[in-house]
Parts: sequence; structure tokens; C-alpha cells
Amino acid sequence: MSGSSIRFVLDGEVIEVHDVDPTRTVLQFLREDLRRTGTKEGCAEGDCGACTVVVAEINRDGDDLSLKAINSCIQFLPTIDGKELITVESLAPAASQLHPVQRAMVQNHGSQCGFCTPGFVMSLFALYKTSARPSRQEIDDALAGNLCRCTGYRPIIAAAEAMYEQGDEERRSDWLQQPFGALQKPEARVARLAALTRSEGLDIGHAGRRFFAPLDIDSFATIYSRNPDATILAGGTDVGLWVTKQHRELEKVIYTGRVAELADLSVASTHIEVGAAVTLSDAMPVIVDQYPGLDELFRRFASPPIRNAGTLGGNIANGSPIGDTMPALMVLGASLVLRCGDAMRELPLDEFYHDYQVNDLAPGEFLVSVRIPAADPDAIVRSQKWSKRFDQDISAVCTAYRLKLDGDTVSSFRMACGGLAAVVKRATHCEAALAGKTWNDESIEKACRALQQDFTPISDMRASADIRLRAVQNLLRRFFHETQGNVDSTVYTYGRQR
Ligand SMILES: Cc1cc2nc3c(=O)[nH]c(=O)nc-3n(C[C@H](O)[C@H](O)[C@H](O)COP(=O)(O)OP(=O)(O)OC[C@H]3O[C@@H](n4cnc5c(N)ncnc54)[C@H](O)[C@@H]3O)c2cc1C
Ligand code: FES
Ligand code: FES
Repeated sequence: MSGSSIRFVLDGEVIEVHDVDPTRTVLQFLREDLRRTGTKEGCAEGDCGACTVVVAEINRDGDDLSLKAINSCIQFLPTIDGKELITVESLAPAASQLHPVQRAMVQNHGSQCGFCTPGFVMSLFALYKTSARPSRQEIDDALAGNLCRCTGYRPIIAAAEAMYEQGDEERRSDWLQQPFGALQKPEARVARLAALTRSEGLDIGHAGRRFFAPLDIDSFATIYSRNPDATILAGGTDVGLWVTKQHRELEKVIYTGRVAELADLSVASTHIEVGAAVTLSDAMPVIVDQYPGLDELFRRFASPPIRNAGTLGGNIANGSPIGDTMPALMVLGASLVLRCGDAMRELPLDEFYHDYQVNDLAPGEFLVSVRIPAADPDAIVRSQKWSKRFDQDISAVCTAYRLKLDGDTVSSFRMACGGLAAVVKRATHCEAALAGKTWNDESIEKACRALQQDFTPISDMRASADIRLRAVQNLLRRFFHETQGNVDSTVYTYGRQR
């Protein structure tokens, strides 16, 4: 492999970085090396959004840019190789002028102490460039990853609604100023990025550390077989925190984000296949298209910047007991395509986890893709996330169901839960209690009692063991009533519905 320096575009210039610690974050590089301090650090763990920047890369068709807001505090610098980085300093066309988003923030009093403001501006900028006229819900969703202690959010939302009115003709010659629409195509920017395309992967060495970013799956398999002690990095929304919060030293990292085959996302008549490096933002709409009952779960998964970087594969491989995608994928009967050297195998997801943070991967083995069976029109699929906050929160309990009825008899029922055991797992006693039974209150109460055999939850800061068990029983009752049309499918937070 070749290529040991990182190259990316910033304000029209190619920045080339040599001899850098590959786990240095984009935020550290901006603030400490470039002294570009508009981008702030609040939490250094992807929660507050003060560090939000936008990255642009060439889209799949190769003719336009795709723009995504990300959290620079948990992104390692090599991951922006070959991309354009847009920070809050990039937006204003001249020192005395403001970007339309910034002007809308000023005019609507969207900033008080100002610490969160660059992050909000960048999230709004991403929305401005990618959505024509967002609804109130789309604005809320776009800002789900930004926290403000001062404004109460109302003025920021007003700015989001007003930002499209702010451009004037003179500024429309500047691509950054143009809102979503006909003037979107930035040919010069695409050409500049195309010139950075690598023919061989990246291999960075620094002070005894290595960072590999191969371009194809065979190279990835070979490097990982030779370095089974390397940390696989996908979106970094878990791994990044190992460095910024746990101060772990990652001696060898192998990055999935440049491997063409791992970025594949395809829909066949039998299944959806999601490559291990496909981001949650790209995977979720395709899955929800077939399984609309998962929409709420995916909308409440973290925030847009986390979903723009994080992958479905990373969520599964990380294997947190409160990982949100696994209950749904388990009830759908998803399987994992795994590879070790040249050997491939397929494993049902519900056989993947052995114990807390112990899974079925052998040394040198990695996840290639997730296979999700195509939707059965006769099955009802639903997932519920129960957490303290509506947006950007970790589940206390997460459930998923797949139900098929023959008349009012249960012909097939699957249920899986997160937050109730050391791993996400199926509720097999509950499933057995409902198999072949009449789908009614009496059967549901028996199934609720069976849930006590399936799970022995722990108490922690999110919920006590007792509350967790009662919550999952009530969520199952709720699912039953939804299927009866007695209640709307809605979302749950402690004390708040929306
Ligand atoms: C602020 C914040 C909010 C979050 N909210 C949620 C939430 O609401 N719900 C939720 O479930 N999670 C949440 N997470 C956790 C995280 O975003 C997810 O787990 C995400 O899907 C991880 O994907 P990633 O690509 O970032 O993985 P990474 O961090 O890159 O990797 C995660 C793990 O997977 C391994 N890995 C990655 N790819 C492969 C592969 N191909 N083969 C083998 N191993 C691999 C890595 O080595 C590592 O062990 C949140 C995280 C943050 C920081
Ligand atoms: S500093 Fe808080 S999300 Fe990055
Ligand atoms: S303006 Fe002070 S934190 Fe938002």
C-alpha cells in the first residue's frame, strides 16, 4: 500500500498532513494545529454538537457532492482523507458578511453565550444545503444532536424557518450560499475532490502506530489476517470515545470506510444487503421503506451527525446490550456475512452474541454485510425505544416484534429486547407462550408473565431492574393494543409522549 499523508480540501485549498498521530481527532487538528477555533469542544463524545462540521464527498454517481454534518470531536483525522471539510469559518463570504444561516440566527436571536452556535450553524447549514423546505419535524430532527443551555431552542427553530429567505442575488454566485435547488451542482468542488482520488490505500505510521485504509475487501482481509490485534474502525462513534474518553491507545487501526465492497447497499427480491461500512443514514431509509414500523426507532437513533458517521455494522459488531438496531434485526431474521482471510460464512444474528462483549468472531474475522429478509406483507413489524429523552438518548429498554396472525390465532411471533440482559436477545419464553394462541388480552398477560423467565435485568442510572421489567411488559401490552387499533403507534419517553 502507498500513501502516508492525509489530504483533504479546506476553503478551496488542499491540506496535506504528514506524520500525524492517526487517532488525532479532526477537532484537535482544527483547533490546536490550524488554530481554527470557531469549532468548539463541549463534551468530546458526540453528544452536544458544539464540534459539528460538514464533510462533502463525491456522491455514488460521481457527479455531485453529498454533504453530511458530523461530530469532529470523535472523528480521527485520516477518515476525512479525500473529502472536503467545511467549518463555520468557511461559511461567511467575506469578513463583514454572514452566511444566510448565520444572518437568520442573528436576526432571530438564536445565539446568547454563543458556545453552541457554530455547531447549530453547521447543522443548519447541512439542512440548508440538502432540504428544500423542511417541516418542523425535519428541523427538530436535524437539530437533535445540538444542545443549547441558553436559548430554549425556539429562536434557533425560528432561524431555521427563516434561513431560506436570507440569500441575495449577489451571494448566489457562491456555492456555499446557495440553498437546496437548481443551483446545487458544484462542478469545481467535485473536480477538486476527484483529483484527490487514491489508486492505492492509505498506510500511516506514526510513533509506532499504524493506520490502514485499504480500498478493496481482499486487501482488508489480508491486512486484518496479518494484524488480528488491530482495531477495526468504521464510523468511529463507539471507537472514537475509547480514545477521547477512555484514553485508550490504539496501536493499529484498520478502517472500513474506504473499502468499496463494504459500502455496497442492495435490495433484491429476497433480501436487503447492507455492507458493513454503510452509514446508518444511508441504510435506514432503505430498511424503513420495507419496514415502516421501524421508522420511529431509526429517527430516534442518536442524532444526524452520529447516524451520518456510524454504521449498522458497527452497531452490531460493537454488541452493546442497549444497541438499538439488533432487536429489530433479530426479529426480522437477519444474518451476518463474515469473512476471515478467504473463508466466508453466514451466521444468524441471534447466534452472534455469546455474552457481554463476547461474540462469535474469530481472530482476523470481520463483518462483511448484514442480510435482512425482504418484508412479508402479512407480518406486522414494530420496534419501541423507551428512554429518558426523546432525542439523542440511549435506550433504557428497546423492543421489537414480528407478528403473523391467521385470523385471530398467532401463527408466528418473534420478540427481541435490548436493555434487559448482558446482550440483546430473543424473548423465547414469551414467544413460546404466544405460539398458536389466540391474540387477545388473556394470552398477552400470560406472555407478560413469561417475560420474567426471559430476562433478569440489572439496575443502573437509566432504570431499575423492576422498572425495566414492568416497562417491557407494558410495551408488549401496548404493541397488542396497537394491533387492535386501540391506540396509535407512538413513542415513549419517561413522562412524555410525542
Ligand atoms: C452521542 C452518541 C449517541 C449514540 N446513540 C445511540 C443510539 O441511540 N442507539 C445505539 O444503538 N447506539 C448509539 N450510539 C452508539 C454508536 O453510534 C453505534 O453503536 C454505531 O452504530 C457504531 O457504529 P460505528 O460505525 O461508529 O462503529 P465504530 O465505532 O467504528 O466501531 C464499533 C465496534 O464495531 C467494530 N467493527 C466495526 N466495523 C466492523 C466490521 N466490519 N467487522 C468487525 N468489527 C467491526 C469496531 O472494531 C468496534 O468494536 C451512540 C453513540 C454516540 C457517541
Ligand atoms: S464536542 Fe460535544 S459532540 Fe463533539
Ligand atoms: S447560546 Fe449558550 S449554549 Fe447555546
